[in-house]
Amino acid sequence: MKWRNTDVSYGLTSKLFHWVLALLIIGLIAFGLYLDNAKIGIAELYLYGWHKALGLLAFSLIIPRVIWHFRTINPAPLGPDNWQAKLATQAHRILYFLMVLMPLSGWIASSASGFPMDFFGLFPIPAIAPVSERIEDLFFSIHGIAGTFLAVVVLLHIGGALQRHLIKRDGTLRRMWF
Ligand code: HEM
Ligand code: HEM
Repeated sequence: MKWRNTDVSYGLTSKLFHWVLALLIIGLIAFGLYLDNAKIGIAELYLYGWHKALGLLAFSLIIPRVIWHFRTINPAPLGPDNWQAKLATQAHRILYFLMVLMPLSGWIASSASGFPMDFFGLFPIPAIAPVSERIEDLFFSIHGIAGTFLAVVVLLHIGGALQRHLIKRDGTLRRMWF
């Protein structure tokens, strides 16, 4: 299998980025919603540290993915250029935007809270914003709203992929698989 995309197919690089990040991001959404809704005690505070470290691990893959996306050919949607194809393309753009906004807003908000961060105890994560309650509140709000929006767009995206695979059977899911 080729590493690069062609104008009709995805190469190994895009496929690996897609599926590794799909797993990580779906996990991070579920993890984040759990943190926001569960009663987290002092004993479970380490879970925040795991979410932050996993979020930054995702970010370290999202940056090269975005660069790759803009430097490679991207196959056009299969089938006619109708409203569904247009919606899918817009959804991909929104997903890329939210993939950058989520880790960045989480990192800025967490930096502004003043709590020290580390990457699974291996090395410290630098703060990228000054300690400030105003910045913390603003960026956690952005993280929360963008997170909910991301969850909705991901569900729409998965629904579209399944509809094309099970009903239309047009090979869209197969060309993203290995
Ligand atoms: C792709 C990466 C990420 C995704 C998809 C993600 C997703 C989420 C979601 C969905 C929530 C729940 C938000 C809410 O309902 O208010 C959340 C909460 C949170 N996230 Fe992230 N996150 C990511 C990266 C990060 C990063 C890099 C950090 C910090 C360095 C971070 C720090 C936090 C914290 C501290 C919370 C809890 C906030 C609260 O309890 O209100 N996240 N995340
Ligand atoms: C079970 C979950 C998922 C399935 C079944 C799935 C399926 C697919 C399929 C079939 C394509 C190819 C579309 C085409 O050829 O026109 C695709 C592309 C894409 N998917 Fe997913 N996806 C999933 C999860 C995710 C998640 C969680 C994200 C990001 C938050 C994501 C972001 C993207 C993006 C940005 C593209 C455009 C291709 C690219 O430039 O990388 N997907 N997905």
